[in-house]
Amino acid sequence: MQAELVKKFQEVYGAKGDIRVYFAPGRVNLIGEHTDYNGGHVFPCALTIGTYGVVRKREDKVLRFYSMNFDHLGVLESSVENLKAEKHADWTNYPKGVMWAFGERGMKVEQGMDLLLFGNIPNGSGLSSSASVEVLTGYILKDLFGFEVSNQDLALIGQYSENNFNGVNCGIMDQFAIAMGKAEHAIFLDTATLQYEYAPIKLDGAKIVISCTNKKRGLGDSKYNERRSECETALAEIQEVVGINALGDLSGEQFEQYKHAIKDEVRVKRAKHAVYENQRTLKAVEALKNNDVAQFGALMNASHVSLRDDYEVTGVELDTMVEEAWKVDGVIGSRMTGAGFGGCTVSIVKDEAVDTFIEKVGKAYQEKIGYAGDFYVVEIGDGPSRLA
Ligand code: GLA
Repeated sequence: MQAELVKKFQEVYGAKGDIRVYFAPGRVNLIGEHTDYNGGHVFPCALTIGTYGVVRKREDKVLRFYSMNFDHLGVLESSVENLKAEKHADWTNYPKGVMWAFGERGMKVEQGMDLLLFGNIPNGSGLSSSASVEVLTGYILKDLFGFEVSNQDLALIGQYSENNFNGVNCGIMDQFAIAMGKAEHAIFLDTATLQYEYAPIKLDGAKIVISCTNKKRGLGDSKYNERRSECETALAEIQEVVGINALGDLSGEQFEQYKHAIKDEVRVKRAKHAVYENQRTLKAVEALKNNDVAQFGALMNASHVSLRDDYEVTGVELDTMVEEAWKVDGVIGSRMTGAGFGGCTVSIVKDEAVDTFIEKVGKAYQEKIGYAGDFYVVEIGDGPSRLA
């Protein structure tokens, strides 16, 4: 893989100079969905698939970008001066945003670079290819220019650039999971305090399977922002009757006690999801500590039902994928993962059932939806690194 990427880099940009190779993973969230902007807990892990970056520093201020996932775009040029989001070169807004965000933190990027990227995260799958590019860029800047930043800083800088440069109002989960990833572990993160713990994922006799709906995402971003503001309004209403900082501060009982303060049925459902999903995440991590994988799976299933009925971020594609998965023997748990409205589901499937799972769910999905899904048996990987 690395040799091929370097070869391509040399074809595109020439062979001279100090050429370095880096990698940053994608992520999947096991449970704790739409809780990260509600001061709740999440439980994601980094994957062994992700984004590769090959880079060489330049003596001038020119930035050159090439993505092997978008060969038809060719080399896109920019400059480290006056970085701003540019519509025509969509994907380069992610690395440029991170360079801009370093500057905002007093770490100005003064020199240009030639950059070639290749991602093996399926496109638009909701496995955080954009956060992967952000953390990768931050890691490259740190290594090339000696900026003193921790991996946690890289997560915060990535989120800051996505919020302020790319205008997507995401929480911290994706960038954190990627920057702080650890092989064979999920990250139990309290998004209110950024305190975290690594939890070993020992699925003896089972695998993590990601099922991609291949649904093109359309309204995703605007619906995402809509959910955020519904939760903010519900929080403000509850704050009229009790002093809390976030919906994640509430237990289930407290929510039942105070929910009357929320003046709209739909907002009650949104807040209910945020509160109970946080509680489910706490319970799921506890179940895993007790080696109770069946309970973990049951909580994943309950998470999906809540995202479907109360948070309303699934849609027929994700629901079909999950409901067909639930029918297969040997499926311990299955739910949508990420923002929703399309993208992927995550399932825990017993080893001996994986082939049947892919066959049966794949067939039923194709029949009901009219096009095929894709299936990936994944491994939990480490955070960003330099490979050469
Ligand atoms: C997207 C966002 C995350 C998080 C999830 C939903 O992936 O980028 O911050 O809010 O949706 O859990």
